[in-house]
Amino acid sequence: MFYLGIESTAHTLGIGVFDSGKQKILANALDRYDLGKKGFIPRKLAEHHEKVFSKVLKQALTESKVKLSDFDAIAYSQGPGIGHCLHVGLIAAKSLSELTGKPLIPVNHCVSHIEVTRFFTKLKDPVIVYVSGGNTQIIARKGDSYKVLGETLDLGLGNFLDNLGRTLNLTPPNAIGVMNSAKGELIDLPYSIKGMNVSFTGLLTKCEKLMTEVSKKDLCYSAQETSFAMIVEATERALKHLNKKEVIVCGGVACNTRLQEMLAIMSKENHCRFGVAKDEFNRDNGAMIALTGSKAFEANCVSKEEGVNQKQRTDSVKICWD
Ligand code: FE2
Repeated sequence: MFYLGIESTAHTLGIGVFDSGKQKILANALDRYDLGKKGFIPRKLAEHHEKVFSKVLKQALTESKVKLSDFDAIAYSQGPGIGHCLHVGLIAAKSLSELTGKPLIPVNHCVSHIEVTRFFTKLKDPVIVYVSGGNTQIIARKGDSYKVLGETLDLGLGNFLDNLGRTLNLTPPNAIGVMNSAKGELIDLPYSIKGMNVSFTGLLTKCEKLMTEVSKKDLCYSAQETSFAMIVEATERALKHLNKKEVIVCGGVACNTRLQEMLAIMSKENHCRFGVAKDEFNRDNGAMIALTGSKAFEANCVSKEEGVNQKQRTDSVKICWD
């Protein structure tokens, strides 16, 4: 069966195609709005998504060699995300669904990050580190949902790194600027973790105060080491509590090679397997929406919730597949 997936929660308009028979991603087309130094302006992002939608759809259909009439269902990102952007995806998905007469499948964006990483790593029951711009959660499957064991109490890890990069006037995208500049010496910074919850605002304020006294290299290196150590500690605690033997990292910040390295070392020390998908599938993309849509549809548990949900939580969605 063929599934079309539309991703539009933030600055990426992505359209992917998944073939559930062959268990293969056939296309993963996207166009990303250049945030530059201004960051997110919701109206501008939505205008971008409207403008590039037809082009990206054509690209996905050409890449996959699947005709619009041959799809079995149309999946879209329901949330969480930016309202303006989510609505562009919803209207497009609804129109395609009505045009083709095929069912519409709402998909939780966070769950799709998890599913695409499980798909590629083949890890069945991991502790999940979900780190992106707006989200930072330590998650594990329990029964028919993904439980959030710990999360950020303020900024997402990606937003923390982006804010720091912008303050230091690094080349955008700012979080990548921080990663590329992280080549200095370790300085002492606030380390804020309570159980499996973490907090980044105190760390950001301290970094901003030190920016005239400390080199960019030292600050970026120390900010990464400190924030990532908090994430690794929370993940290790989750592993011990639940006695799990697998760890995955997903979401945009999962592309950070130092975070991958730190999690891999901790996993090895705990005799656990560690996995991460390719960068293409850690960043927002339509293929993960198509893939997750197929799982919900074929397990007969498509959500009844309609429309978009800007604040939809990972643990509010029913999961009834393996
Ligand atoms: Fe995302």
